[in-house]
Amino acid sequence: MTYPRDRPRRLRSTPAMRRLVAETSLEPRHLVLPMFVADGLAEPREISAMPGVVQHTVESLRKAAVAAVAAGVGGLMLFGVPRAEDKDATGSGAVDPAGILNRGLRVLAAELGDATVLMADTCLDEFTDHGHCGVLDPSGAVDNDATLDRYVEMASAQAEAGAQLLGTSGMMDGQVGAIRAALDDAGWTDTGILAYAAKYASAFYGPFREAVGSSLQGDRRSYQQDPANRRESLREVQLDLVEGADIVMVKPAMGYLDVLREVADRSTVPVAAYQISGEYAMITAAAERGWIDRDAAIVESLIGIRRAGADLVLSYWAAEVAPWLR
Ligand code: PBG
Repeated sequence: MTYPRDRPRRLRSTPAMRRLVAETSLEPRHLVLPMFVADGLAEPREISAMPGVVQHTVESLRKAAVAAVAAGVGGLMLFGVPRAEDKDATGSGAVDPAGILNRGLRVLAAELGDATVLMADTCLDEFTDHGHCGVLDPSGAVDNDATLDRYVEMASAQAEAGAQLLGTSGMMDGQVGAIRAALDDAGWTDTGILAYAAKYASAFYGPFREAVGSSLQGDRRSYQQDPANRRESLREVQLDLVEGADIVMVKPAMGYLDVLREVADRSTVPVAAYQISGEYAMITAAAERGWIDRDAAIVESLIGIRRAGADLVLSYWAAEVAPWLR
């Protein structure tokens, strides 16, 4: 009988052997927790399409953020959910220092200081009554350059409120450069930009719309990328790097791991990936039905995103998973 000369199974034989040769690691610091803070809530409110994720009150946000940081997560990404009556066509609540997102940032900055990295969503969709990521021109199209003026105001307000990294998620052309210049002019030279560089128009953002109480009219296909395109992401990343991005992100994660790998191979700054609401919802729903092993699927999904090249992963499971990894 002839024997296989090569036996890859040897290196899989025991848990200790597998641990010794693992190529990819997943540590708490790699995980960033996205959180929602809502205005006018008496109690935290569960998001029905994301069981286990809530819209926080300012007080429950503070407690949950402290717990997440104690669990070891690498950072927090905050989204604001204004009251419906406070939304308007230009997203005024986003630039108002007393708007819910800026209030939440201030509370977290005061509570946590340098114990974590505090990030803010720098986008208008949570604050506009039409749900788009920018302001509209008279024809109803998203007006790129008028939106940049708004982002610049929003960025200064967020830096002032204590955000250390601004998550530019609106996919307007020139947003990173405009915000970088405005921050520098205002003296916020140490406030960084986490650029949503390659962001696709995805059906998997569905549950997020509920999370931020957004009733989007139309779709985002005139500013977010076509899922059919790969090369275009390299251009978007390159532009954001030239404009001054400190970190570049690919979003969604699981359907775009090829893009993530290519970006990671080329980027000169750290690369993040966002495991979005629909990815959370899919695994949660399948697990609820007993169709997959929830915890194993969560860790496997995160390892896969890391293996594809992400230095950081934004995940709604960040705080839950962090203690498992210690
Ligand atoms: C835009 C923004 C969105 C998400 C993060 N930032 C929504 C969108 O672009 O439609 C989605 C995150 C998720 O689905 O988990 N402010």
